[in-house]
Amino acid sequence: MKSQEIVFVLDLGGQQSQLVARRIREAGVYCEILPFHGSIQQIKAKKPKGLIITSDNSEACIESAVNSKELYELGVPVLFVGQGAQEISMQLGGKAIKAEETGSAAVFGDAENKLFGIEFQPESFETELDSRILRAFLLQACSCKGNWTMANYARQSIEYYKEQIGNRKVLCALSGGVDSSVAAVLLHKAIGSNLICIFVDHGLLRKNEADQVEKTFREQFNLNLIRVNAQKRFLDRLKGIVDPETKRIIIGEEFIRVFEEEAEKIGAVDYLVQGTIYSDVIESGFGDKATIKSHHNVGGLPEHIEFKEIIEPLKSLFKDEVRKLGEELGIPRELVWRQPFPGPGLAVRVIGEVTEDKLEILREADAIFRDEVAKAGLDQEIWQYFAVLTNMRSVGVSDGRRTYDYTIALRAVTSMDAMSADWARIPFDVLDRTSKRIVNEVRNVSRVVYDITGKPPATIEWE
Ligand code: XMP
Repeated sequence: MKSQEIVFVLDLGGQQSQLVARRIREAGVYCEILPFHGSIQQIKAKKPKGLIITSDNSEACIESAVNSKELYELGVPVLFVGQGAQEISMQLGGKAIKAEETGSAAVFGDAENKLFGIEFQPESFETELDSRILRAFLLQACSCKGNWTMANYARQSIEYYKEQIGNRKVLCALSGGVDSSVAAVLLHKAIGSNLICIFVDHGLLRKNEADQVEKTFREQFNLNLIRVNAQKRFLDRLKGIVDPETKRIIIGEEFIRVFEEEAEKIGAVDYLVQGTIYSDVIESGFGDKATIKSHHNVGGLPEHIEFKEIIEPLKSLFKDEVRKLGEELGIPRELVWRQPFPGPGLAVRVIGEVTEDKLEILREADAIFRDEVAKAGLDQEIWQYFAVLTNMRSVGVSDGRRTYDYTIALRAVTSMDAMSADWARIPFDVLDRTSKRIVNEVRNVSRVVYDITGKPPATIEWE
């Protein structure tokens, strides 16, 4: 990509590097996170406008920061952020100045040597680190222009891939999820029909979802799309399987198999697209090997497809930036802002054996719940909300007759990152409407329960 102004966040410890990086980008400056102990040559080569060091206050962190003279000799402004900032700044000869803002921040500065530091109480870090502080450092101390926008990024990426790929062929597994959709549309804008997308319909998507994916990408974006109707194959392989992990493995393997079969018909391609995003890169520990994100978190990369290289067009973007890029590219809002959906789909929301009959019941109940949550205007507040078909039947009464039908569980959680979650306090009347509609409109369901367990100990999915 064209050279652009860049700031590095050097991660020395603590939890804050990603948060800081996102705030820098929000201030219109492109930045990347590097491990603090990485190569100084790598930093130098990109001629950064500034360095931000995030740290905790352990002795090792402080010692490393204080002794890294070669960093300060680059002559680039440095800002220390985080728990160790005060100690590091003091040891480097910084002096405390009284901040204008009230609150719990401490600010340090040595304008001559271009060294600065800010420290907050850990619990107030997120709210206190507002963009004014970073903006002042970036725009004044580092003289950044602050004109990095998603519109520019989209334009530059399209130009870059147009030039890099030229007339060669690219293969992409389109799942209908946010990442693969954005990657596909971006590349389509760059290389048109030389991008070939394979959409494997495994029959485990939500109500009408597969048709919507096909319609959106074929009709609206004119993508070169191959839809493979593999529902029966997946169901056949899932017959009799009750263990959740076995279900995942089977689905992952079958996906790869179907994808490879289709790819074989196309023949050799030059590139394979991966929807890797920036957090995957960071979480993989900044290794120099390409980060491999499998479609279903199991199964890995296809082995029998001939390709020369992997393309990862979203590799430098955080999830919310991927969504913004998607909007910029004209992908419908409901697709770009959709809730996370697991690769193995409804197979891990039908407890026990998966059958078409159970999937049908679950799809209807789930559609009603999503409809009611959206009508109540809660869909953007809740991280994930869905129905689960428990394998449990219970006694009910309908039209004066005894019934013995399924129990549907409703699950809705709030979360920042899916690592932990709380059950969503959905108003009773929304739950009431949902429950009444489900038992009235969906066959073979006589009871609806709401899951009020946080994560931990319960996971978000039931399987
Ligand atoms: P749990 O259930 O572990 O889920 O609390 C955390 C997040 O991951 C999603 N999830 C999956 N995503 N393949 C995926 O692509 C999977 O096998 C899978 N299992 C869980 C889940 O929906 C939640 O967002």
